[in-house]
Amino acid sequence: MILICGATGRIGRQVVHNLIPEGHKVRALVRDREKATARLPGHTELVVGDMADPDVLVSALEGVTSLLLVSPVNPEQVTLQGNVVRAASKAGSPYIVKISGLGTAQDSNVDCGRWHAETEQQIVLSGLPYTFLRPLFFMQNLDFQLTTAKNEGVIRAGVGDARIAMIDVADIADVCAKLLVEVSPWMNETVTLTTNRSVSYPEVASLMSKHFGRVVIYSPQTLDAIKANLRTSGQPDWHINILLQFNQAFLQGLGDVANSRVADLLGRPARSLEDYLAQSFDQSPAVTDSDPFPS
Ligand SMILES: NC(=O)c1ccc[n+]([C@@H]2O[C@H](COP(=O)([O-])OP(=O)(O)OC[C@H]3O[C@@H](n4cnc5c(N)ncnc54)[C@H](OP(=O)(O)O)[C@@H]3O)[C@@H](O)[C@H]2O)c1
Repeated sequence: MILICGATGRIGRQVVHNLIPEGHKVRALVRDREKATARLPGHTELVVGDMADPDVLVSALEGVTSLLLVSPVNPEQVTLQGNVVRAASKAGSPYIVKISGLGTAQDSNVDCGRWHAETEQQIVLSGLPYTFLRPLFFMQNLDFQLTTAKNEGVIRAGVGDARIAMIDVADIADVCAKLLVEVSPWMNETVTLTTNRSVSYPEVASLMSKHFGRVVIYSPQTLDAIKANLRTSGQPDWHINILLQFNQAFLQGLGDVANSRVADLLGRPARSLEDYLAQSFDQSPAVTDSDPFPS
């Protein structure tokens, strides 16, 4: 039995959709049965409950041989994920695939990087077999820029022209599914997950121009401007701080670390930013044939 935490989220949901058609037994820990039923394929066994509830975790982990540990960035994440690790230790010795992220280190300047490192350390100390996956930047983070890119021809970010090795969530899900089934390929390894090429935001804008059939420019933002916008939008301080820390980490070059691990594991190239943009355009064409392409 494979347990997926965060099964209604971006990564978890796609992992379940990968595993069920292949006939694997999948259990999903979900907070909302209705949402889960709408998002997940039939034959997914649902355990309704919260990672904050140790009793639910005991039932969720019964008979589990491998599990995906993912939850949102949140000041409670160490406690929530720690509950899962403790329950897993009591249940036996399931293999844990944990999603960590940018700046994961005990002395990180990124708050959630320290939180991820704390859970990783807890897993190591538990003696359970594990793989720690560290994607840096989901291509799908660009989703919210697509409408302004297509309609106004501009994207905005605070990372200057720093290069970032992004990754498509679909590739993270493919990696997770393979590991959860086969267990052995990256046993007790920590792997940074990226495409094989990092890109700068000026390049992202240029690729968008090509794929969306109109000129898209990159308008770099100062961190002060980003902070002011986030304040206006009512984000809590802890989240604003983390978003600014992400920008600083990218500005320091922490995102420019492309590798070929995804391709090595999956035996095919990781999806490129061009693939993601082509798919995004196909899925929600916001520009018409009459839009000029003044190249
Ligand atoms: N965005 C990036 O570029 C990026 C880059 C690197 C790493 N990451 C890492 O990716 C992770 C987030 O992955 P994601 O985008 O797939 O997450 P997501 O889409 O935000 O989904 C989070 C999932 O966790 C569930 N959840 C939240 N709180 C829970 C609780 N208390 N108990 C049980 N389930 C709970 C949610 O359920 P509901 O549907 O009920 O809310 C949802 O299924 C984070 O750890 C982040 O650090 C992100």
